[in-house]
Amino acid sequence: MSSRLLSQLQSKLIKTHSNTNQSCSTLYNHHQHNNNNNNNQKKKKKKKKCTKISSAITNERAKFQVPLPKSGALKPSREIENEVERFPWKGGLEPCEDHYERVKLTADVKNEQKVPKELKGGKLYRLGPGRARLGKKKYAHWFDGDGCIHEVSFTSEGEVYMRSAFVRTERYKAQERKVNSFVANGGKEEDQEVVAARGAWTQASDAMDNLGKFPTNPGNTSPIVFNDTLLALCEGGPPIEIDKVTLKTKGEYKFKNADINGGFPMGFAAHSKIDANDGYMYAWGLASPPAIGHRVAKISPKGEVLQTASVPLPDPFGFFLLHDACDTENYIVFVIIPWKASLVEIMPALIGYESFGHSFSYDSSAKTRIVVMRKSDLSVALEVDVDNFSSYHNAGAYEDENGDVHAIVCKLDGSRKDLEKNFADMYASTWTEKQYNHLYDVHISMKQKLVLSETKIGGKHAKPMEFPVISPLWSKAKTKSKPEFIYTLCFGSRGGGYFDTIQKVKTKSHTSDDDDDDDEIHLEYVSKPGHFPSEVAFVPKTSSTYEDDGFLVFLEYSAIRHASDVVVLDAKSMLELFRWEAPYHVPYTFHGHWEKNS
Ligand SMILES: [Fe+2]
Repeated sequence: MSSRLLSQLQSKLIKTHSNTNQSCSTLYNHHQHNNNNNNNQKKKKKKKKCTKISSAITNERAKFQVPLPKSGALKPSREIENEVERFPWKGGLEPCEDHYERVKLTADVKNEQKVPKELKGGKLYRLGPGRARLGKKKYAHWFDGDGCIHEVSFTSEGEVYMRSAFVRTERYKAQERKVNSFVANGGKEEDQEVVAARGAWTQASDAMDNLGKFPTNPGNTSPIVFNDTLLALCEGGPPIEIDKVTLKTKGEYKFKNADINGGFPMGFAAHSKIDANDGYMYAWGLASPPAIGHRVAKISPKGEVLQTASVPLPDPFGFFLLHDACDTENYIVFVIIPWKASLVEIMPALIGYESFGHSFSYDSSAKTRIVVMRKSDLSVALEVDVDNFSSYHNAGAYEDENGDVHAIVCKLDGSRKDLEKNFADMYASTWTEKQYNHLYDVHISMKQKLVLSETKIGGKHAKPMEFPVISPLWSKAKTKSKPEFIYTLCFGSRGGGYFDTIQKVKTKSHTSDDDDDDDEIHLEYVSKPGHFPSEVAFVPKTSSTYEDDGFLVFLEYSAIRHASDVVVLDAKSMLELFRWEAPYHVPYTFHGHWEKNS
């Protein structure tokens, strides 16, 4: 890239960010380490533009009214209308409906570029709670919301379509029967408050529907295409197969030989890992009763269960949440946080007297345990306790040249209790930086069987974050060093505390305030006011040379339209390339899957 072109791009980028009043961004081209002129310009602009973010949240009082439904089954209560009026992002919590027919999205009229071949024929699947309330009754936790699968498809002509469908779980069908009965007796759907089936946090309205019943699976966390089968995953139960042609729910999916081997987990982790190179899947979940604990399974690319084993827990009779894990070429790494319930504590939930979720608590005095298991035979390679931290997600892991394992984990900045309080009622939640995370490289010596260091990742501009994503180009490369970049949702201080920004975190540590540090790269895409992005999917370029040669594809909730956009960024520059507007909104989703054109 010529210095002139670099300078033009730099100006364009800074202008883009200054328009948003969010400029802690600098341009740095990692292909040009020796361009002193541009570095000097960069430093000047950075000093001028880069201001410290206030820890206070700007509530961004709406200058517009979120156009929520005024009538019909989706009409919100006055309480929810008030919350959305105060915090427009909460409009994205509101329920959606089925849209089985694909609808063509409207392209941004300013968009004159052609859709790249890497996107054509591809599909982005997103999964999340399609509703966090049932009529007037709010679920007792966001994670109890009924799963809804969304498909964004790019045609070979570059057109974009979207469709959505609730996952027809047993609980969804039971709820449908209750609502139909309520309406048949003269009630209005928006007024009903009955919970038909027990969730992990939300008890059924009728005590008899709780007693002796295990919590039902909402099927709401992560979609995955494995062995050409689309699955809706959630640790609350087995995978649920979705018909890729119709988007209709086919039912619980059974892997080959799951029963023969024995010990196959009852739940199925939403973040089950597929090896980027050989295609084997590693899934884990709660053991089938009467067994206690977590089981992990190794599944062939053809869907055959090859082996199962127990995950060693700090308390063999305790209940733990193992939401995520990360994998290297040879290992799978679990971070087991002390978010737990003892057998005594969970007994009322086992009977059905109270919810499972509310039986758990966070023990901030307990250690966090790291368990490393071998992919080859699921044997335990290492168990080590480290100082307490809470975490939901990991970004990835790798083995360095010494054979040591590095797990890149999110560490929660504040208290887990406060975070869970927000999840318990997202409509009433308030967010600060403390409910977000920072990334750490946990360096594990496999020879000494200990953690050597925990190093914070990202420069001084790295913002409180969640939902880290790494380029699949890095995962596939079996590299012996950390990824160069991690893309995350983050909290940019406005928007009422919810995600308003996507940041590109440079993983090399920034050690001083010296602006001469060329290794600091921090680029951001800041959503327009009233817009809230989802976790990104990284789509690599076919002829990629660098780790960031690709596109970031994501959904963005527009509170202004109460509808969603599909947005594509250039992963290198973080500049917006394409935007399409959908005629309806996708309630905030948790995770996604990009399926390239086969
Ligand atoms: Fe997750």
